[in-house]
Amino acid sequence: MTETTATARTLTTVGVVGLGTMGAGIAEVLARHGYAVVGVEKDEEALARGRQYLEHSTARAVKREKLTEAEQAELLGRISLTTELSDLAGAGFVVEAVVESMELKKQIFRELDAIVAPDAILATNTSSLSVTDLSTATARPGRVVGVHFFNPAPVQDLVEIVRTVVTEDTVLGEVKALVEALGKNPVVCGDKAGFIANTLLFGYLNHAVAMYEGRYATREDIDAAMRYGCGYPMGPLALLDLIGLDTAYEILETMYRQGRDRLHAPSPILKQMVTAGLLGRKTGRGFYTYEAPDSPVVV
Ligand code: 3HC
Repeated sequence: MTETTATARTLTTVGVVGLGTMGAGIAEVLARHGYAVVGVEKDEEALARGRQYLEHSTARAVKREKLTEAEQAELLGRISLTTELSDLAGAGFVVEAVVESMELKKQIFRELDAIVAPDAILATNTSSLSVTDLSTATARPGRVVGVHFFNPAPVQDLVEIVRTVVTEDTVLGEVKALVEALGKNPVVCGDKAGFIANTLLFGYLNHAVAMYEGRYATREDIDAAMRYGCGYPMGPLALLDLIGLDTAYEILETMYRQGRDRLHAPSPILKQMVTAGLLGRKTGRGFYTYEAPDSPVVV
């Protein structure tokens, strides 16, 4: 049996645990490509926020004539939302996208392991935590992988697939086929904090924060330099606001702890902004101020 056939057989229903910016984006991508998605959040309030993300993002696609209203309704109809992990019993593939807490992720993986079929694949969208460590919370470490999407998930074409020393080859093949079925480009890497892209990207982002903190240049000029000088779609400070300063801080901190590369020692102002609740677009203020979570810069 080919890998693609195996994927089609196993993966008609998929699960997404955590419907924040990334989880909702991943659920949208899966539903857009015909999968029946079960989205899980911890309580009704978080579920309502997840629903809002999905409605807002698909409404944007309708406005830009990428989807008709009927297709939007069909897409949203393929996603069922719940607060019960047990509703994932029929899923052949589950991706977890909750906050970057190993303890919380392990708890979820432990519970999922008892809920889904023995041959189901458990994946994590972690940006920097150890997939190997997480896999030990299950009785199926060979069927655990990282699938790291990029923000905004409906737009960015890359998915990093993180294989551990025990990830089975067939699982890797199935996940690669799934990522390709979503129209994304898979790249495979080992289990080291930051994987490929964040290891390269975050040294640069952190350096931009240090430059801003040292009042070397304004936020606008730092961002303009990289957009107009280097052709980046957005400047580093605007990108940090998109990623979320809390997420960025956690990623840097984890990479620094693991690799001790000074490039990754989080700039102090990052921590201060996180403590003050300036998390970027999702809270309306980070390096810039926003009217709505994905609106253009206001101030
Ligand atoms: N959700 C869904 N779709 C979105 C979106 C969002 N939040 N933001 C933009 N889009 C879509 C638009 O609908 C549009 O789609 P279309 O071409 O099909 O009509 C397309 O993206 C382009 O949008 P805009 O014309 O409004 O804006 P831009 O051309 O300025 O693009 C951007 C916006 C896609 C965010 C672009 O600026 C970009 O690619 N920025 C860099 C993003 C990046 O580097 N992401 C990686 C971050 S690192 C990461 O995620 C790793 C993690 O571990 C932290």
